[in-house]
Amino acid sequence: MIQNQQNFNLASLNTFGFDVKARNYIACHSPQEIKEALSWVNNKQENLLILGGGSNILFKNDFNGTIIHPLLNKIEVNKETDEHIWLEVEAGVVWDELVEYSVNNNWFGLENLSYIPGNVGASPVQNIGAYGVEVKDCIEKVKGIYIDQQTNFVFNNDECQFGYRQSIFKSELKNKTVITSVVFKLNKKERFNLSYGPVKELLDDQKAISLKTVRQTIIDIRKSKLPEPEEMGNAGSFFKNPVICINDYTLLKEQYPDIPGYVIDDQQIKVPAGWLIDRAGWKGRSIGDAAVHNKQALVLVNKGKASGQQILNLADAIIDSIIEKYNIKIEPEVNVI
Ligand code: FAD
Ligand code: EPU
Repeated sequence: MIQNQQNFNLASLNTFGFDVKARNYIACHSPQEIKEALSWVNNKQENLLILGGGSNILFKNDFNGTIIHPLLNKIEVNKETDEHIWLEVEAGVVWDELVEYSVNNNWFGLENLSYIPGNVGASPVQNIGAYGVEVKDCIEKVKGIYIDQQTNFVFNNDECQFGYRQSIFKSELKNKTVITSVVFKLNKKERFNLSYGPVKELLDDQKAISLKTVRQTIIDIRKSKLPEPEEMGNAGSFFKNPVICINDYTLLKEQYPDIPGYVIDDQQIKVPAGWLIDRAGWKGRSIGDAAVHNKQALVLVNKGKASGQQILNLADAIIDSIIEKYNIKIEPEVNVI
């Protein structure tokens, strides 16, 4: 039986720590409860938000509608061979608990994505990525429910249309689905991805590379630059890294010889927005309690009592200054509600 809680405080359900409320809040513990909640919302013609851990969301105001919070939390083995294991993981499982569980079982694939906040259900939405790996590399299927008809879907990896911080759930099907579980295909045979320079450098100092040392190295790197949301509200990278054409990059390189770039193909290159923002002089600057983190310029932080609108005002000032200085328009990664 679902239960609707009115005027629900969301302070602990958004990592910016904004003191906002939802008119209605329904926690769901099974796909059946999600369907019940969806039909209630559809009947009332309410605004709807599916919430995971709230680590990639910025609330501008109180949410004038219903929040459905999938808290289903089973992990099941679907299939196993000598080489692989297929895990079906429900949406409410905390992402990093899944990573830790797979590392403890000696299954390879998710370790570079250690310590990313949030829940499994959101992981395909923006195709979470870090340190040379994206979650799409391990996803076999995504299962869920269409919001309008409350019917089930199962998408294979191709159908999810994954890209850099992109998927069908963020584009064509934005706000049209609830993801209920994800099937991951993990390796039982050793296979590391050490393509990200700083990870390799730190690991070179260690005698033996194992899943546990890779996980710990990544946690250490992340702790050295990213603020803990409990200590300072934030949603990770506020902007996506812009992808620009090689010709524009060559021109920028003449002016800024040390500008980094990661080649995507013979036409395009990805430029770190953190570098652009840092070099434009924003690192550590604040407008009231809305600030640019002093160790990672891509992260905007709430130093105390900033509102969502104040963070957005700071973001707009940064966007304008990056256009003015480099003629590049950076776009938010965070979902503004
Ligand atoms: P939420 O913020 O609750 O939701 C995000 C979006 O997904 C919303 O649009 C929501 O409606 C939708 N959604 C959530 N659950 C479902 C569901 N079950 N069905 C359908 N839609 C759903 N991200 C990275 O990619 N790489 C990083 O390295 C990284 N580092 C971070 C570091 C910090 C300190 C923080 C605070 C954030 C970081 N992030 C990173 C961003 C964030 O952790 C991820 O985007 C994460 O997947 C969000 O999960 P969540 O459960 O908190 O989603
Ligand atoms: N840089 C600076 N100054 C800064 C920040 C970065 O000069 O203040 C430079 C760094 O020196 C480096 C480059 O920018 O040359 C890239 O920095 P970093 O390795 O920290 O990664 P990022 O591009 O800023 C991306 C993801 C992160 C992910 C890391 C690690 C995006 C939008 N962000 O950050 O994801 O953890 O790589 O792979 O792609 C997130 O999505 O929330 C997130 C934290």
